[in-house]
Amino acid sequence: MTDLLTIARPDDWHLHLRDGPMLAAVAPETARHFARALVMPNLVPPVVTAAGAAAYRARILEALPREAAFTPLMTLYLTEATDPAEVVAAHAAGVVTAVKLYPAGATTNSASGVREMDRVMPVLEAMAEAGVPLCIHGEVTDPEVDIFDREAVFLTRVLEPLRRRVPGLRVVLEHVTTAEGVEYVRGSGPGIAGTLTAHHLVLTRNHLLAGGIRPHYYCLPVAKRARHRDALVAAATSGDGRFFLGTDSAPHPDGLKEHACGCAGCFTAPVALAVVAAVFEAAGALDRLEGFVSRHGAAFYGLPENAGTLTLRRGEALPPAGKLVTGAGPVTVFDPGFALHWKVVPARAGGAAA
Ligand code: DOR
Ligand code: ZN
Repeated sequence: MTDLLTIARPDDWHLHLRDGPMLAAVAPETARHFARALVMPNLVPPVVTAAGAAAYRARILEALPREAAFTPLMTLYLTEATDPAEVVAAHAAGVVTAVKLYPAGATTNSASGVREMDRVMPVLEAMAEAGVPLCIHGEVTDPEVDIFDREAVFLTRVLEPLRRRVPGLRVVLEHVTTAEGVEYVRGSGPGIAGTLTAHHLVLTRNHLLAGGIRPHYYCLPVAKRARHRDALVAAATSGDGRFFLGTDSAPHPDGLKEHACGCAGCFTAPVALAVVAAVFEAAGALDRLEGFVSRHGAAFYGLPENAGTLTLRRGEALPPAGKLVTGAGPVTVFDPGFALHWKVVPARAGGAAA
């Protein structure tokens, strides 16, 4: 039985770090395990300019311990007023790695997002030309569409027409939660990829709703039926380079999760790699873990693989991670509902595993 697994240092291709006291508490949790992360721009107010992204990047670096070897990769929040020239210049200057599309009203802090795709066509065309990837929260916001169907409907109603209009645009369908989403990515050309979260590889909607409502399992897109979860696991463990880890780790203070109108988001950063390793182990695919967490995403974004390694050790069942104390209040760490056995071996200064 393999009990030590050494892989190239992983990246997280979809992460919420927030700002202020929450940022200070959660940024070190990601930097401990990941070399890079694509940082989401849905702050209040959102990150909409190159200067805003550079300033946020500086605040993230300030929140990290001096010895952390971590690179935040920044995103711009697409609005109907986004200037195509600014996006292209920010990408060319290396300030911004991708642009994020939130359909207005789809999720946390998405009010400034896009209502009419027509209004962002000039930006998307400029991005296609310049090779700037578009990361998409793929859910329709039509109140007539059932929340469990919003991703599947997005594929036919929004994504397919968009890709026909701007065929050269590189697209990441983020936090895929349905078999239809997996099939869409598989059936498309090389310019599209899908990220998968740790929690959606584990959860079904029963975790959220059966036997009591569990607000710490509420996230968007909402977890679906088991057959969808199983399709995500099959995609992640298949070795297909179009699928890679984007945790969507999204901390909210417990008081806002355990609430009459609770916020969407699972805070997974401290356990994401342990959860993904457990999923790959159960699928008999530990040999493909490195591709999913460390290689496929970098290849899609045209970035070099990380130097240095990360080692996971399989041992006794670990106690549940509990809560992270933050200046914004306690934040419950995602509990997959089974004991975790894989633990990241702390790196020594210089990067080698202890
Ligand atoms: O569950 C989620 N939480 N999904 C998102 O799309 C946003 C995120 C957040 O920012 O809290
Ligand atoms: Zn997200």
